[in-house]
Amino acid sequence: MCFPIQCARAWSSLWLLFTFATIFPAGGNAQATSSLSLMPQPASISDQAGQMPLDANFRITTGHFSDDRLEHAIDRALQRLSDRTGYILLRAKASDAPPHGELWLDVAAAGMPVQGTQEDESYTLDVGPQRAVLHAATVVGALRGLETFLQLLDADGKGFYFHTARINDHPRFVWRGLLLDVSRHWQPVANIKRLLDTMAVVKLNVFHWHLSDYQGFRIESRQFPRLHELGSDGLYYTQAEVRDIVAYARERGIRVVPEFDMPSHAHSWLIGYPELASLPGPFTFTHQFGIDSVNLDPTQESTYRFLDTFLGEMTSLFPDRYWHIGGDEVEGSSWDKSPRVQAFMKQNGMKDNGALQAYFNQRLVELLEKHGRRMVGWDEIVRPDLRRDVLVQSWLGPQSLATAAKLGFDSVLSGPYYLDKMERISKQYLADPVPDETHLTAAEAAHILGGEVCVWTELVAQENLDTRVWPASAAIAERFWSPREVRDSDDMYRRLPAISLALEEAGSQHHTAMDAMLRRTGRGEISPEVRQFFGLIEPLRLGAREEARQASQLTPLVAPGDIAIPDPPAARNFSRQIHEFLADPGHAAHRDELTAELRSWQKLGPAIHSLAQRAPLFQDGEETAASLSALGKTGEEAMAWISRAATPPPEWSRQQAALLAHAQIPQGLLRIAVLDAIQELVKAANGGNP
Ligand code: ACM
Repeated sequence: MCFPIQCARAWSSLWLLFTFATIFPAGGNAQATSSLSLMPQPASISDQAGQMPLDANFRITTGHFSDDRLEHAIDRALQRLSDRTGYILLRAKASDAPPHGELWLDVAAAGMPVQGTQEDESYTLDVGPQRAVLHAATVVGALRGLETFLQLLDADGKGFYFHTARINDHPRFVWRGLLLDVSRHWQPVANIKRLLDTMAVVKLNVFHWHLSDYQGFRIESRQFPRLHELGSDGLYYTQAEVRDIVAYARERGIRVVPEFDMPSHAHSWLIGYPELASLPGPFTFTHQFGIDSVNLDPTQESTYRFLDTFLGEMTSLFPDRYWHIGGDEVEGSSWDKSPRVQAFMKQNGMKDNGALQAYFNQRLVELLEKHGRRMVGWDEIVRPDLRRDVLVQSWLGPQSLATAAKLGFDSVLSGPYYLDKMERISKQYLADPVPDETHLTAAEAAHILGGEVCVWTELVAQENLDTRVWPASAAIAERFWSPREVRDSDDMYRRLPAISLALEEAGSQHHTAMDAMLRRTGRGEISPEVRQFFGLIEPLRLGAREEARQASQLTPLVAPGDIAIPDPPAARNFSRQIHEFLADPGHAAHRDELTAELRSWQKLGPAIHSLAQRAPLFQDGEETAASLSALGKTGEEAMAWISRAATPPPEWSRQQAALLAHAQIPQGLLRIAVLDAIQELVKAANGGNP
């Protein structure tokens, strides 16, 4: 007999046993990095054959150094281990009896008072059969090592244990960021804290907070209160909340770099302070995306006085050395139309808007220097005469990144890591911050400090934030942390479920939020057909979705295309089945499995149609589900031709080509994630001809 709460724990332990046993192959006799599910992979790992058991006596102790940050991290780690194992795991007292299983944290010092790019994040972790030792020069290194240690927990029929291992680890790049745009869609403090908790799990270390843009100014300014009062719809962060978030991030070894985008993307500033604009107002708050821009006026000394005071106020909230001024997509029509701006340009011999932006940037660099900050900006700020202590964030592609690095600017890459592109995780995973095609010398490549995942939020609301960020960002985080040679996508996908579980343990709602949305949208429990459907479809990419649906900040993001996730595991699994079948069409088990799968698709069209009769939001999925049903039939027929080694009649090939072409046309913000695999099958049936 057990009390309900203990029963719940017992069940959760059983579930964990099952899950970890599934994720980690039994035996614990891993070779090199092959069978553990660490993410990001450490720089080096060996000796994984043994086990260090964990039971209620497990404890974490510290050496001669500790501080509040380390103590809090230990408490969080013990809580996570308790949740996984069901043991009450408490802090050790100096007089406690020798434990059964121990982690000793040997940390030399706190690290930098304000975490910077020079922070030492390295650690070594030696897990033996009785005791584990984590050495780190700084608390941040210890935080990184603790996350790795938690990933070594496993279980078998006898109970829980840590894999023994000797790990020597350090990041490949010092800048491993995630940008969150809170202008297009504001996120509550709790969501940001959850994001920071989960970033720490995968060793991301920069939270790039995109705080202002056309559609919202999201931070309280006491010097210029009309910025947040009129520049937002009431959704902004108070200064107390900002301080809290910055402190929360520091506790997790994460820097906070604010971005105030200017001189374009600055509409929200002008609503309360139209005197900053290069054309007369009035300006009003807008929920619309992609509106025309009126730029800040770089020709007025009053603009710089304003920015000086603003920076004086804001730098007291954000201690980081770096300060992002945006500088992207400077649409110059408001400068072209302003007689004042035109006169200034003529007087100062400025030939074009680029020269005016360069002048603006130069003034900003000087202001930032006065306030003890280094400037960061997007590609568009790069000019040969810009000071080289400016850091460039590249969204325009590898060649643009290379240009900056060749000119001697420190840079971080973001272009391939835009999550709104809704790409395959493997594609984003394989995009290297030092792209091969750029042919940089070692000295030039040394200017690339890392990369940043970008979460632009035109189509990301509070509810689907986590489903957009995780687990894709975990794979990208590995790209930023692990050695360049770690680039086996299949192995990344093998490890993804384990890190997904760890992220969920740290608070991520990427599974639960999707299920909640499906239940609400479907007005009831999630049927097997709905579950299957969402394993085979993907959301449209940002550009295509903008064409398909004119959304604004007010649009509820609740359509199937807002719920579906990119690169769903079931679609990947289906592709694997197709490849297995094509490699050996005579293999009966593979053939039967695939046939059963394709046949089951034929139920999807009718099921989603019937659901849409009582859950109208699913009408958006009806055509796609019908296409999937038709593709299931196509696939089955293609398999039959291949299995019989017979050539289909031209009429069949023509019909299938038309059907595939139709399925390619997105319906209801969705695309079919398994279309490529079906195309491959049909091509094989046609003797290799498309
Ligand atoms: C950007 O995507 N305009 C930085």
